[in-house]
Amino acid sequence: MTSEDRQETADFSVVIPAAGSGSRIGGTRKQFRKLGRYNPLLHCVRAFAVHPRIADIIVVGPEKDLSEIEFFLSDIANYIRVVAGGSSRQESVFNGLSAEGLLDYVLIHDAVRPFVDDALLGRVMAATVEHGAAAPAIPVYDSVRRGDDDTFGRPIPREGLFRVQTPQGFHKEVIVSAHKKAREDGWEGTDDVSLVSRFGRPVYKVDGSGWNLKITAPDDWEMAEALWSYWEQR
Ligand code: CTP
Ligand code: MG
Repeated sequence: MTSEDRQETADFSVVIPAAGSGSRIGGTRKQFRKLGRYNPLLHCVRAFAVHPRIADIIVVGPEKDLSEIEFFLSDIANYIRVVAGGSSRQESVFNGLSAEGLLDYVLIHDAVRPFVDDALLGRVMAATVEHGAAAPAIPVYDSVRRGDDDTFGRPIPREGLFRVQTPQGFHKEVIVSAHKKAREDGWEGTDDVSLVSRFGRPVYKVDGSGWNLKITAPDDWEMAEALWSYWEQR
């Protein structure tokens, strides 16, 4: 399939927020640090770029790094755009969604989840097309309690609790209107499922993957490095 053929048949845009500062992990921004051959952002873009239903990838980066990002993504595909992020993840996603000519469906994926594969993508895409809104999740297996700095408070029953991952998929109109409404209301959520489900719109749950690590804290980076050499050779 040539890239022109793909652009005629594909129906998914992808927005990849990558404009965060990585304050919890510190040091060089985690999405641009080398993990194996590439950085996490590039691993993500490569995972999406091989999919035949995807022909529009919008990377949202820090304003000052846009030309550098364009440069290191330039030889992957001709349908990658790079736009400037905002001061929160939600604002960065909004900026990505404001790009011209989104395709019918949109996937939103954090640049700091490099272990995204075709099977996970396939589950999310199928449910997105069927239901208009879908996201991967895995059940919470640990005991969960509220606590302060030093001691635990109340237990929280873990039945029915899920850790929600990305990529999250939506019909274009569903996600764009949810973002506009949240913006008007000054409402801030940690992910896109929370914006869409705010008014009772159901978001369909598909199986996430234990591999789909979100690199957040310093030990997540160590874990990602340890896992990567195995992952690359699967
Ligand atoms: N993100 C973004 N724009 C922001 C904040 C976050 O595009 N203003 C992106 C991050 O680059 C990351 C994803 O949203 O790909 C998830 O955010 P998170 O893991 O919280 O990353 P950071 O915000 O960079 O880290 P921290 O919260 O520790 O500062
Ligand atoms: Mg953050």
